[in-house]
Amino acid sequence: MSSRTRPRRALRTEHTPQAAAADADRREKHPLVWLETNTCHGNILSLLNSQNPDFGVLLRELLDLYWSNTLMGAKGFKSIDVLEKVMVERAGEYILVVEGTVPTAAGGRYAYVGLRGNGEPWTVTDAVVELAAAAKHVVAVGSCAAWGLPFGAHPNPTGSKPVSAVVNQPVINVPGCPAHPDWIIGTLAHLVWYGIPELDAENRPVVFYGETIHNLCQRRHYFESGIFAREIGEPWCLYKIGCKGPVTYADCPSRQWSGEHLNWPVGANTPCIGCTSPEFLERTAPFFEHLPDVHLPGVRVRPNQVGLATGVATALGIGLHLAGSLLTGRLQKEWKKGLGKTGSKFRLKRK
Ligand code: SF4
Ligand code: F3S
Repeated sequence: MSSRTRPRRALRTEHTPQAAAADADRREKHPLVWLETNTCHGNILSLLNSQNPDFGVLLRELLDLYWSNTLMGAKGFKSIDVLEKVMVERAGEYILVVEGTVPTAAGGRYAYVGLRGNGEPWTVTDAVVELAAAAKHVVAVGSCAAWGLPFGAHPNPTGSKPVSAVVNQPVINVPGCPAHPDWIIGTLAHLVWYGIPELDAENRPVVFYGETIHNLCQRRHYFESGIFAREIGEPWCLYKIGCKGPVTYADCPSRQWSGEHLNWPVGANTPCIGCTSPEFLERTAPFFEHLPDVHLPGVRVRPNQVGLATGVATALGIGLHLAGSLLTGRLQKEWKKGLGKTGSKFRLKRK
């Protein structure tokens, strides 16, 4: 496609100073549309806080950002014009990132992108469906877009749904509340350079979501030894005060957060609340209640005996890692069973 037929570059110089610098560099980059729907905008802010590479490098080297509710300077018809053109002129080329749930109730009238060129209101729901149909890849960033929560939490008057529930195309999920900037950049870079990354059963990139928090946690030895914190702020395993690490898949313990990878929730003495999990938020609450009791072959395990039971299993000839994996699997099973019994929440007695 010749540059003459592409939507106007001028709009993108209005995003940020970094984008203006990026436009000065005419290297070919991959077109990106970042559409924010029902969202707190936490994921685009997370991305703006990325380091190595930072957001400016991303725009200079990798992505040609055509549209972003938060970052673009243009509003109204000027911005909608770009969105409509990109669907036609870069069809089959651009990556569509959706951040937020898709409000489907009342014919989608809970949220509008704006007025189309023909003067008709354009609902967010229609925009997501149309943009996805013309995209090369569709990526749901953040737990709202990936799972529909927390914006779709009960009673969900807007009929909010995850992106995968309203589009026909395959959707790559990059959950988190918000998603880590590395998870976002890494997924986008993989799509540009190598195509679709290896995905798990929930369509999450395995490279970032392939292990449980629990398996990577620096406090795992306290769990194995049965040394548990009883209050927020204590430096031991946080399982008994609600840590959802055993049933949550993400690499937070090794990647770490806060700009230069400084810390993560458990490192800051507060439990993982399972923010990347499909059960987040309604079903990982209450946040400070521990997971259900579990059973190992021949050994009944209560949360306050988990370390002891793991030791017993080891003494019986089951390796620690295997015992830990067994526990994780059992915990997930018990947890999901609990969900079935109690509806949207598992309810547990505090020990
Ligand atoms: Fe770490 Fe939480 Fe697992 Fe304890 S329960 S070892 S704090 S992930
Ligand atoms: Fe979320 Fe748990 Fe990581 S709450 S940020 S998945 S430690």
